[in-house]
Amino acid sequence: MPQTDVLVIGSGIAGLSFAIKMATSFPELTVTIITKSGDSESNTKYAQGGIAVVLDELKDSFDKHIADTLRAGDGLCDRDIVESVIKEGPQRLEEIMSWGVSFDVDDAGNLALGREGGHTAERIIHYKDITGWQIEKSLLHHVSRLPNIKVLPHHFSLDLITEHQFKQKIVRPQPGITCYGAYVMDQQTCKIEKFLSKVTVLATGGCGQVYRTTTNPTIATGDGVAMAYRAMASVKEMEFIQFHPTAFYSVDDNPAFLITEAIRGFGAYLRNKSGERFMFRYDERAELASRDIVAQAIDNELITSGNECVFLDCTHLNKDELIAKFPNIYEKCLEKGIDITKQLIPVAPAAHYQCGGIEVDKAGRTTLNNLYACGECARTGLHGANRLASNSLLEAIVYADRCYKDIKDRIASIEMATDIPDWDAVGTLVPREQILITHNQKELRSLMSDYVAIVRSNERLERSLKRVDLMYHETEKLYDKAVLSPQLCELRNLITIAFLIIRQSIQRKENRGGFYNVDLVQ
Ligand code: FAD
Ligand code: SIN
Repeated sequence: MPQTDVLVIGSGIAGLSFAIKMATSFPELTVTIITKSGDSESNTKYAQGGIAVVLDELKDSFDKHIADTLRAGDGLCDRDIVESVIKEGPQRLEEIMSWGVSFDVDDAGNLALGREGGHTAERIIHYKDITGWQIEKSLLHHVSRLPNIKVLPHHFSLDLITEHQFKQKIVRPQPGITCYGAYVMDQQTCKIEKFLSKVTVLATGGCGQVYRTTTNPTIATGDGVAMAYRAMASVKEMEFIQFHPTAFYSVDDNPAFLITEAIRGFGAYLRNKSGERFMFRYDERAELASRDIVAQAIDNELITSGNECVFLDCTHLNKDELIAKFPNIYEKCLEKGIDITKQLIPVAPAAHYQCGGIEVDKAGRTTLNNLYACGECARTGLHGANRLASNSLLEAIVYADRCYKDIKDRIASIEMATDIPDWDAVGTLVPREQILITHNQKELRSLMSDYVAIVRSNERLERSLKRVDLMYHETEKLYDKAVLSPQLCELRNLITIAFLIIRQSIQRKENRGGFYNVDLVQ
């Protein structure tokens, strides 16, 4: 039975930066990172645009970044959180750079700043158009040099351990539900073990895979939110799923390839099939309006025209600069038959980011004792109804630090649990038709894209709730009697995520930011 002082679930920017801080400050403690795929596979790895941080106080200010974040969040951000996160940005950035993460610099040797939608200044630091890859590889490298961190790839967390799993009630020192670690499947041996820990940090990322078209890699199945919800932690604002306006249009791609917003910040235009620069009809900021507005505008263009995509036009931009700044996009589009210096890029919106999630306080504590959350799976109050571009990586490093600070003051007083039962797999069988799992997953993703995407309605939400309820019962039946597989667990988690998005959409009674229900009064 593995025991660790600190269990981190997820190896993206949030999990890795938290683990680095914890392991560096406490060389005597053990920190275990479990991650369900290869160690680098994460949303983080695919981040393109960069991190929003105020660095140049002559051309920019904290107040401006705060105002932009609040405006994008459409009145639902927590102002104190916005102010504190943005002001902590430069310090946290310095920290990750000290761990080896590097960014592009300008001719004067200062960090180069880009621009994205909803920002009133150039403030996005980046590494070409592969910022996430640079961050992920540098953090993993730093982690490999810390002997008290153990990274376990291909380890799938099935469920959190709480009192619910105890055969007999134990006497607990604190009221409420407490987390004691997680049940984890080693995907190479298919063995399920209990990982006991003093504290557990969920850093499991987003849930884009609940939609048919998403920029998120296949690992993004909302496992952390689903596990937390099953363990009765508070989960909030799941109705605010952000759709990125410009993913490369292709019916077959999973994930859809993102065309970074920074390319619009660099001057690319959006055009409809008639060649019109339509964004002026929707917002005076045109292509640089916030993401919710651009995605809804594109969706409207598609609905009214019956077309399947609009186009990004880079053909008027300086060719050499375009290729130098966006080499990955240039190459990937060439592979898909589009030379972006000469041809328009077909694009359509894709599910991109989960603005809500596991509710945490300003220290990163969830509503369960000894369970923390940071990164995309956490709902901090920063994003409100719509996240401002490039505020996610910022939030992840700030909240990883907050979790660390809170845990460092408490860990000495936390006891490891002792009387936790083993995973009970008695009486389970290998399902005869694994294909049913794949079918249900396909059906769920189509349902969510067709009924619960950018534009929702009461009827669509009610219908989808009924269908998800049916899938829930079918899947629970299978789960109870089947030998578990990651595919089955992911399906189960995706159903929970779909349920949360739909139910919280039904509960929301006004349109805000990225949430739009045609039946609500404007
Ligand atoms: P992730 O990086 O997604 O990591 C989650 C980890 O949890 C993974 O290692 C995963 O394997 C693991 N995991 C999940 N479930 C389990 C389980 N059951 N058991 C074990 N392990 C599990 N944001 C910005 O601010 N700027 C950008 O430029 C930007 N560009 C983006 C581009 C793309 C294509 C995408 C998809 C997102 C982008 N975002 C961007 C959003 C940002 O990248 C993510 O929000 C952020 O990286 C999330 O980091 P994280 O550490 O919370 O989660
Ligand atoms: C992008 O590069 O367009 C994505 C940025 C983000 O999601 O914040």
